[in-house]
Amino acid sequence: MTTLREYLDSTRCEETLKDLIELIAKQAEPIRKAFITNQEYIDAKNIYGETQIALDKWSDDHLMKVFKESGLVKKAASEEQPDVIEFPDAKADYAITIDPLDGSSLVQVNLAVGTIVGLFDNGEVMQEGKNLRAAMYMLYGPMTTLTLTVKEGVHIFALNEDGEYLMIKKDIRIPEGKLYASGALKKDWTPRHAEFINYLENEGYKLRYSGSFVADVHQFIKYGGIFSYPAFKGHENGKLRLLFEANPLGFMVTQAGGRISDGEKDILSIMPEKIDHRVPIYIGSKGIIEKMEEMFK
Ligand code: AHG
Ligand code: MN
Ligand code: MN
Repeated sequence: MTTLREYLDSTRCEETLKDLIELIAKQAEPIRKAFITNQEYIDAKNIYGETQIALDKWSDDHLMKVFKESGLVKKAASEEQPDVIEFPDAKADYAITIDPLDGSSLVQVNLAVGTIVGLFDNGEVMQEGKNLRAAMYMLYGPMTTLTLTVKEGVHIFALNEDGEYLMIKKDIRIPEGKLYASGALKKDWTPRHAEFINYLENEGYKLRYSGSFVADVHQFIKYGGIFSYPAFKGHENGKLRLLFEANPLGFMVTQAGGRISDGEKDILSIMPEKIDHRVPIYIGSKGIIEKMEEMFK
């Protein structure tokens, strides 16, 4: 089986990028180890007013420390912090966006959660998602997996007992499957979103929604369909975040032949206005996203 390093060596990635991707992927081990002792909600809120779980903070502090010590990261932005962090001593120009722990509400019930990472190579985090150099996520499920794109296909690796990532799926392409998901309360959906979900149900789409965006999207990449966290009453930009959730996973899905949309246009072309920029999300198979955009016109 191909190791992560062997795969990276077969790509056009520069050495520093290979090292950084490997370094971030390795952090799955310490993060996983921290699960047992960091289960509780703490007396702290992030900028979205969400109460943090100890593991959100632990993973964020840990990854920021790793970025700083690596000397490879110039700037980093995290879902758990209000400002972009700068590392002026860095020797390389990578800028990173992270959701250190996506799906926090599932930590206490032992369901799959993950770490989402977007990597730019020009020292800036405030830019369109289509400029990403690479995107990756580690999923902490029954296996620890790494899904990676360096713009040469989307591949999945699994972490073995020796701490080595081995490729288990090569060149994933997202099919036109029949799964759907929608966040927010039904009573707060917009009429056009409600109509679209109704259409999906009539077309035989099955519901799959866990409360962990990264785990849900992982499933949609395999089986196809459409995941949404729409605009809803009082929240015309939805809940999920452009920099930390939409862009890295949208980039990944697009590299696998799928799409991400805000209901009208490609999310990867949106210029972030602020670090906590939120966006309504429709992500998944290309055909059904095009159908949705058509219906929304
Ligand atoms: P996070 O755990 O990083 O705060 O993100 C939670 C997100 C996302 O993972 C998930 O799809 C969604 O919020 C769940 O929200 P609801 O509880 O409103 O369904
Ligand atoms: Mn999240
Ligand atoms: Mn999070």
